[in-house]
Amino acid sequence: MGVIQTAVEYVARYMPDADPDPLRHAEGYIGRPFSRVDGPLKVGGTARFVAEFAPEGLAHGVLVCSTIANGRITSIDASAARAVPGVLLVMTHENAPRMKAPSVFDVSGGGKSVAPSDLPIMQNDRVRWNGQPVAVVVADTLEQAEYAASLVKVAYAPVTPRLAFDELKVSAIVPKDVIGAPPEVRVGNAERALSDSPVRVDETYLTPWYNHNAIEPHATLALWTADDHLSVFESTQSLARCGATLADVFSLDAAQVDVIAPFVGGGFGGKGGLWQHTVLAAAAAKVMQRPVRINLSREQVYRLVGGRTRAEQRVALGADRDGHLRSLVQTCVTVTPDHARYAEQCTFPARHLYAADHLFVGQRIVPLDVVANTWMRAPGESIGTFALESALDELSYELQLDPIELRRLNEPTQDPTEKTPFSSRHIIEAYARGAEHFGWAKRPREPRAQRDRGWLVGQGVSTAYYPAYRFPGSARVALHADGTAHVYAAAHEMGMGTATAQLQHAAERLGLPIANVFFHYGDSALPDSPIAGGSCQTVSIVSAVHAASEKLHQQLNDLVRRGDGPLAGSTASNTEFRNGGLYRTDDRTRGELLTAILRSAGKETIEAQAKAPLPMEMMKYSMGSYGAQFCEVRVREDSGELRVARWVGSFDCGRIVNRKTATSQLRGGIVMGMGMALSEETLYDERSGRIMNASLAEYHVPVNLDVPPIEVLFNDIPDPHSPLGAHGIGEIGITGVAAAIANAVFHATGIRVRSLPITLDKLL
Ligand code: MOS
Repeated sequence: MGVIQTAVEYVARYMPDADPDPLRHAEGYIGRPFSRVDGPLKVGGTARFVAEFAPEGLAHGVLVCSTIANGRITSIDASAARAVPGVLLVMTHENAPRMKAPSVFDVSGGGKSVAPSDLPIMQNDRVRWNGQPVAVVVADTLEQAEYAASLVKVAYAPVTPRLAFDELKVSAIVPKDVIGAPPEVRVGNAERALSDSPVRVDETYLTPWYNHNAIEPHATLALWTADDHLSVFESTQSLARCGATLADVFSLDAAQVDVIAPFVGGGFGGKGGLWQHTVLAAAAAKVMQRPVRINLSREQVYRLVGGRTRAEQRVALGADRDGHLRSLVQTCVTVTPDHARYAEQCTFPARHLYAADHLFVGQRIVPLDVVANTWMRAPGESIGTFALESALDELSYELQLDPIELRRLNEPTQDPTEKTPFSSRHIIEAYARGAEHFGWAKRPREPRAQRDRGWLVGQGVSTAYYPAYRFPGSARVALHADGTAHVYAAAHEMGMGTATAQLQHAAERLGLPIANVFFHYGDSALPDSPIAGGSCQTVSIVSAVHAASEKLHQQLNDLVRRGDGPLAGSTASNTEFRNGGLYRTDDRTRGELLTAILRSAGKETIEAQAKAPLPMEMMKYSMGSYGAQFCEVRVREDSGELRVARWVGSFDCGRIVNRKTATSQLRGGIVMGMGMALSEETLYDERSGRIMNASLAEYHVPVNLDVPPIEVLFNDIPDPHSPLGAHGIGEIGITGVAAAIANAVFHATGIRVRSLPITLDKLL
């Protein structure tokens, strides 16, 4: 299909103009600060996103969304909309094609679905949240469809929605699991140890709803071919599962659905799930027998796409007078609607960070009538560390102990709840490096001790934590007689440097100049890759490429071993990829160029595909990334105005694959954490369930002037149990940020803020 070829023409390759120093040699690529290979395409405007694909015959779909949170649709009057010139279809539950309800994403129950909710999509008159799509208007132009959508009149029989978190939280229940982990974990008797402790902190921490604001709003372009084949251009972090979910909904085989996403303009978890507009675009395209594209408006992203759940967390710490932790309790109530399944993992950091004698963590969920909650950058860990690391700071003041010293004293030698060894944990080193760069030693112990021309100044610190996940995926590697290598994987490039890191790895592994390596990604027809979530993508694909390269190595060895060339009699165990060839490990001069091997074998191409083995290390070891967030804040004494003045993030996340993209990822996480701490907050009208601030004018994310210089440091110590020694780094940056700020605010002002966002009214 022409349109699909247009999509996959985007193959990542090294761009000489992306770096002043092209580094055209075949080793030492890992760790180097390569610029993103997709950078020039994006800056030059030639990278195309879903909303920019316009195949012949394209029709534009615009959604009409419910204005009640619970109830029934009693009538839909679309006559005025249908009369608008150019309008081709008004699809509602009355005339939508019959489709199966998706099954809900369930990490522990297997299955391939990635739907955050199991509600049937436009199949009946039920409304379950304010913002649920109730009609799709399709027209020749976007303007016609938008105008016609404004004319659709929907009448409802509303039912009082469940929205009052504060009232309903008492009825919260323990979920079946928390992304596959037990919802409650007990070591000893934490409550008794708490009451026996001479020094105690026992507080409640509140975080609001948050919404996704990736730079690219969600979009879907769907087209069916005559043979019942569905192709979807989708802004997704989850090509394979998105395809599997669509296949299920439309009762097709997986092979009848392609999902294509050459570029994704940020995801942060909000594009991990499959949201209703994707199914609706495919349904409209099926009815129309034309390609249909639905681009969500910024407002509709708030209405249709879930965000981070509101949370209430309790953290209680009991300690001896010397700072030794006797007891650690962390519990939370979060929101999971009845039609969703995801319980946000707020208590995960507390399961792994401190050597308390007794420990209890427990999660509860309350169902409200809202859009399904979903992943949002370090879901759970971001708000979980806000509560836990604020409480640690509070305890440090009770103990009159330096907060870093308190953490050092309670550093565990094995995982406190799983009782497994750590695969690699150098958090104290990260603290030491960060403290040195930040100048922590100069900080006065007492709060409210530093003033500068009307500003109160304070410094705070917090631990960052995120698990090091890896999931099995596949990759194909092909070597060509012209000396190039092509790597294929259904990976996702959301702007974080996926393609760049994979080129570095493949070039290094195959011993080729990076300019000779190509990376094909962004299409579900390629070898299956896991979801680009849980910070797992880089190492998961590295692992798959490793497996495919080993297989290729074996095949090449079979070619040379029987011949009379320099590698006659060699085995795969005494040869290696190096300098564009295969060389003996015991005699580095003995070998043959890959091009020569292929030529003498009379082959144009040799290729291998493999699936990475199950990451058993994740069972044997406690695998995590760690960090120390240091910040300085300034608070106006007269107005409460708050400025983050300085930031040092010092991280322990294995070996760094690309120092430049890694630094950017962590900076981005820290900036997002500043938004979470200081300004972001989704406001619901609890009477109607309507989000009141569904726009960037009223939902405030940090802008350049809000962000100080951010210094990012790395231990750069390889994890011996992870591919390349690397860990994923997409999410850890945001963790600990809100606590570091709250702790610095306390140090500056003496005011402890336990409810985010820390707005100036809380500092007066
Ligand atoms: Mo991440 S919230 O798993 O994209």
